[in-house]
Amino acid sequence: MSDFSSWVSTRQSLFEAVLKRLLPQAEVTPQRLHAAMRYSVLDGGKRVRPLLAYAAGELSDAPVERVEIAAAAVELIHAYSLVHDDMPCMDDDVLRRGKPTCHVEYDEATALLVGDALQSLAFQLLSEHRLSDDPARQLQMVKLLAVASGSRGMAGGQAIDLASVGKQLTLPELEQMHIHKTGALIRAAIMLGAHCGGLDQAQLDKLDHYGKCMGLAFQVVDDVLDSEADTATLGKTAGKDADNNKPTYVTLLGVPAAKKMAEELHHEALDALTEFGTAARRLRELADFIVMRKY
Ligand code: IPE
Ligand code: IPE
Ligand code: MG
Ligand code: MG
Ligand code: MG
Repeated sequence: MSDFSSWVSTRQSLFEAVLKRLLPQAEVTPQRLHAAMRYSVLDGGKRVRPLLAYAAGELSDAPVERVEIAAAAVELIHAYSLVHDDMPCMDDDVLRRGKPTCHVEYDEATALLVGDALQSLAFQLLSEHRLSDDPARQLQMVKLLAVASGSRGMAGGQAIDLASVGKQLTLPELEQMHIHKTGALIRAAIMLGAHCGGLDQAQLDKLDHYGKCMGLAFQVVDDVLDSEADTATLGKTAGKDADNNKPTYVTLLGVPAAKKMAEELHHEALDALTEFGTAARRLRELADFIVMRKY
């Protein structure tokens, strides 16, 4: 196993334990909601956003107990976004992370409430654990996740996605959609990890640029995989974008140009890390993983 693979698997298993501890136990009332929350968050997913937060935390010398709370908050918002994204009123998907989607395994009302409750839990975590010695910085972190999740971030991007069904978008319009629906939370994961430690503003700006590039690249690759990979590998229904008539980088540019675009964003992201030297090695490896992944 490469050094990077073992770094990833160690953090993935530590993080699973963190999530298990932070989520309400399934025996606690209301049991069905709590079981559905655990079903939707635990035991699945690549945990890319938490890994980015850990890597940014390592770069900024942040205490890992702080970083893991920030990472959990972002992953809970992400899991909520997937539960809602799969509902019949949105993408209408039956498979997620190799398992039946939340509304299929439970029911639609439960899936709706799982999303609501995961979002609230994310902000509870950011407000009840100390993440910075400076209370003003911590408040800024809460705001950062709120903006990234809301109508000027993920939820807004999802609204644009739904309004774009059957339409041909221009490249700048598609870029805006992807930057919001997917890029915002990826960028937030990196910045929250970094805010748990001590970087100066110029360094934070560099990291933010890395995050902006990788957030967009992540969704470009997601579009390519939707059209090229198979359902078993993805753990979600392949070909869903075409079925749902979604404009994507593949419909607009075709697969080769979409891959080239992801590669260009990858390079731009790596350029933003230059001054950090070897301290940014995990962020570089994660950038490579994001563009080269097969699922
Ligand atoms: C899928 O995200 C949805 C998008 C934002 C593209 P991931 O590919 O990170 O999904 P998991 O968490 O690994 O299941
Ligand atoms: C997902 O975009 C964006 C969010 C969930 C916020 P997709 O609809 O492409 O994600 P998948 O392909 O279903 O994972
Ligand atoms: Mg969608
Ligand atoms: Mg979807
Ligand atoms: Mg997709």
